[in-house]
Amino acid sequence: MMSEKALQSKRIVLCVTGSIAAYKAVSLLRTLIEEGAEVSVVMTSSATQFVAPLTFEVLSGRPVLQRLFADVHPMPHLKVTEDADLILVAPATANCLAKCALGLADDLLGTLFVAARCPIVMAPAMDGDMWDYPALAAHVRTLRERGVVVLEPEDGPLASGLTGKGRLPAEHMILEAVRARLARQRDWAGQRVLVSAGPTREPIDAVRFITNASSGKMGYAMAEAAAQRGAEVVLVSGPTALPPPPNVTCVPVLTAEEMHQELESRFAWSTVLVMTAAVGDFRPRHPSSAKTKKHEWTGEPLELERTPDILQSLSQKRTHHVLVGFAAESEDLLANGRKKLHQKNLDLLVVNRITGPQSAFGNETNEVILLPRDGTPIQVERLPKRILADRILDTIREQCIGPPASRSQQPHEGIRRIQ
Ligand code: CTP
Repeated sequence: MMSEKALQSKRIVLCVTGSIAAYKAVSLLRTLIEEGAEVSVVMTSSATQFVAPLTFEVLSGRPVLQRLFADVHPMPHLKVTEDADLILVAPATANCLAKCALGLADDLLGTLFVAARCPIVMAPAMDGDMWDYPALAAHVRTLRERGVVVLEPEDGPLASGLTGKGRLPAEHMILEAVRARLARQRDWAGQRVLVSAGPTREPIDAVRFITNASSGKMGYAMAEAAAQRGAEVVLVSGPTALPPPPNVTCVPVLTAEEMHQELESRFAWSTVLVMTAAVGDFRPRHPSSAKTKKHEWTGEPLELERTPDILQSLSQKRTHHVLVGFAAESEDLLANGRKKLHQKNLDLLVVNRITGPQSAFGNETNEVILLPRDGTPIQVERLPKRILADRILDTIREQCIGPPASRSQQPHEGIRRIQ
């Protein structure tokens, strides 16, 4: 029996805007069609400077829509969005992102955006300095707040000759985002998710502290993904340089003790705890509230004590909760992971490698092993952290919670497993 293709019969509107990466949209179109999608192509007039509409027309077998008026349909923006399962903008230029964030409807693409009621995925491409421009960052944030999936551009050589972040994400990443967005509408609605993220900071004195290399990116991605999929999310975060994810309540903390208190006070409220934080295991036993002067230092070693193991302690208080831990390991990933999974009585452990150039710490991408309590380990390929977050949420839903439809009939289904 032939297996169903990933995008079988999905109606996708592929919008191509005026970037040199427009040529990559040709291959993307072919792949979408190979995956079973029915694709209509919309091009802005700048996009037609890079690739002729005829190319898309021949490959899609449909007329390419370019203008608000005088195309095949009298009201193309309404006709196209009415039928669409998803709108994919690839490549999305800086101008296009700004226009869509502001809701400007002065051409077909802008109008289509305002009229759309289906999920939207945008794959930006531009020069690195443009992506970093503060106004653009604000537009991207606005779009994400409205539930639009805006992918991060990739690092690498750019058309300008410079190297930086601005390349159109790789085709398989765009496809993964499309598949993911279609599969996950609001399947986490009704869940209350407590996420911890980032490092902790354990003071030595008024200006010095012990911390670790965690950037918080994985935890923020988990919080953002859960909120986008309909969950109520509280993010308890150690110090990071990241903006708060949209539609998430953020609680900033510094020390492991503070993180413990904030998580504990919200634990009863939550249905799922996702413990992504790299909690410091040790803290100075006698921190000074003043700055220790150089000449006051006697050369004595710093005396340390253990911080609370937050996950372990909350796991002892669990009732209906699903508990997910993140292990930072440098060796024997599986064996050490299994030990932690059982010691901390978790439903799922995400095992990260934290050594080498591909370390989980600080990188935009991550490669992990998922260890469900009863199931077999799942090796997940290297993915951007935001996409990985969706994969992890999928696994939690499948292995620890169960399908959304059955939840209303099951008051304590938190740790139920599906067969
Ligand atoms: N964790 C915690 N409190 C701590 C230390 C860790 O809640 N004091 C949580 C982390 O947030 C993570 C999980 O426990 O979800 C595993 O953390 P990890 O640092 O990998 O392991 P540790 O328990 O610290 O054990 P070890 O240092 O021996 O690897």
